[in-house]
Amino acid sequence: MCGIVAYIGEQNATPIIVNGLKKLEYRGYDSAGVAVLQDNRIEVRRDAGKIARLEALIAAQPVRGMVGIGHTRWATHGAPNQQNAHPHLSSNGEIVIVHNGIVENYLSLRDELLAEGAVFHSETDTETIVYLIERYYAVSQNLSKAVQLTMKRVKGAHGLVVMSSREPDRLVTARLGNAGGVAIGRGAGEMFIASDLPAIVEHTREITFLESGQLAVVSRAGFEVQTLDGAKIQPKTQHIPWDPVSAEKGSYRHFMQKEIHEQVRSLSDTMIGRIDFDDYRVVLPDLNLSSERAKQFRRIFITACGTALHAGMVGKTIIEHLTRIPVEVMVASEFRYIDPIVDANTVVLAISQSGETADTLAAMEEGRRKGATLWSIVNAIGSQAMRSADGTIAMQVGPEIGVASTKAFTAPIVDLYMLAVYLADLRGSITAEKRIDLIRDLLKVPTLASKTLEHEGEVERAAARYKDIRSMLYLGRGINMPIAYEGALKLKEISYIHAEGYPAGEMKHGPIALVDKDLPVLVIAPKDAWYEKMISQIEQAKARGGQVIAVATAGDTLIPDLVDEVLWVPEAPWLISPILTTIPLQLFAYHIATQLGLDVDQPRNLAKSVTVE
Ligand code: F6R
Repeated sequence: MCGIVAYIGEQNATPIIVNGLKKLEYRGYDSAGVAVLQDNRIEVRRDAGKIARLEALIAAQPVRGMVGIGHTRWATHGAPNQQNAHPHLSSNGEIVIVHNGIVENYLSLRDELLAEGAVFHSETDTETIVYLIERYYAVSQNLSKAVQLTMKRVKGAHGLVVMSSREPDRLVTARLGNAGGVAIGRGAGEMFIASDLPAIVEHTREITFLESGQLAVVSRAGFEVQTLDGAKIQPKTQHIPWDPVSAEKGSYRHFMQKEIHEQVRSLSDTMIGRIDFDDYRVVLPDLNLSSERAKQFRRIFITACGTALHAGMVGKTIIEHLTRIPVEVMVASEFRYIDPIVDANTVVLAISQSGETADTLAAMEEGRRKGATLWSIVNAIGSQAMRSADGTIAMQVGPEIGVASTKAFTAPIVDLYMLAVYLADLRGSITAEKRIDLIRDLLKVPTLASKTLEHEGEVERAAARYKDIRSMLYLGRGINMPIAYEGALKLKEISYIHAEGYPAGEMKHGPIALVDKDLPVLVIAPKDAWYEKMISQIEQAKARGGQVIAVATAGDTLIPDLVDEVLWVPEAPWLISPILTTIPLQLFAYHIATQLGLDVDQPRNLAKSVTVE
């Protein structure tokens, strides 16, 4: 979690860093700070709360200089207050650090440093890092050497940037493990460092990503990368095709609302370059897959967290239906602890918007260790989950800033659909006619999404009616069962209303006891193979005095007579229906949260990328 930005060049670093931090506020917003080298002295400004508070502090106590570092925090060790805010200074005030990650051996390092007379001013684990650097600097008089030695002492995963008034012409940055990325961007006579691209893409698109175990010394003119043993490395630089405008809110009230509406475009963007229209085939060259190899797969594990996991659950039904390869969907945080049965004919497929989620990366490592073919469906270009896979499907939906994931839920469903068609084609489990029909259906998705969004006004009115509820049940069945989980997750994370998603058939095994006039039940009941069963769910809830909100297919004349509210979706083929049924649920959660006056884009306690276990 946490966001890092740093600058070295000829301009005033402070506004560049603060603007960069604003773009990263989605990563954490418990506190924020900057440190700038002003007249060869390190000046720190930091405060609890959001970046607006830091801006006010800087306005009251301006600071300027041409080298600086900044941080926006999601608290792990220590409360979100001013003392714990980054940057953290060494005791002599000559070295300063911003850090992303957790020092797993921080208690023993702290004891060691205390015994040597260090005085700690915060409850953070980061302070141990800066004191270690200070200690090694006293011996080596070389900042990169001191950082190198320190990185060898700290356990856990880290990304950090260090600045020293003794070496004002450079910044040192390093990465260990998967605590978020370190991206170095080259400008003309200036260099940028950030944990995430939105912070710096408006300045540069020439980006180098540090790998784990690498350190870079960054000056105005360029940078050098080395291992933690000091061996020089020739880094790869990529041009990032990213539109900075898509990281702005535009005319929408919130990023979440913008991203919900963007789905019309993102659902087609994710198909770009993947459909061959001459013979209606899916092409996924980045999977590096031959038809012989595709025929050898015996099992697919899909692993992910949260919303990405729910996309994987939808994918399971699509892949199994079309390819008949057994698919297991597993919470990434459990994958490495349950000794999954993985061999050389198993695919481990990770899904992640950020490509940085610590548990998802750990699940990928477990898959690698057991000899699986490793694939990922990832949004963040250049992220670890993209780099460490044997094959990747990039979501291609642009930055997702709202903490509640929306367009990065529906795009991977399209990607999984394309993957299923691709595998089925290579394995010969579908006919050419079936393949063409499947692709024709898929191409309808953006238009159908647009039709679904036309009903936003009705969803907003339904939200007004239910905004004061305390709890809610979401029910789905078959391919729409994961949409019940996803709808409930959206509601709880941004409105703080308790909600549970359930497979509809499970109601009678317990949850139905909860149903009364105060517990609305949201039933996902499009016209599909499970429609009649969902109607009986509605009847059962109504018979117990429950209020029912139904997601139903346009033209349905039965459901409006049975329920209290209807959220409409257009008629659609069943394999793509979850993409559409999820949209009213995103809007429902969004409008409830905004009507409650809550901070939709930055809900409490959450961060966009969860880079700790
Ligand atoms: C919910 C949400 C989270 C993420 C989860 C995985 O709206 O955003 O549940 O889906 O933390 O994140 P990624 O996809 O970045 O691995």
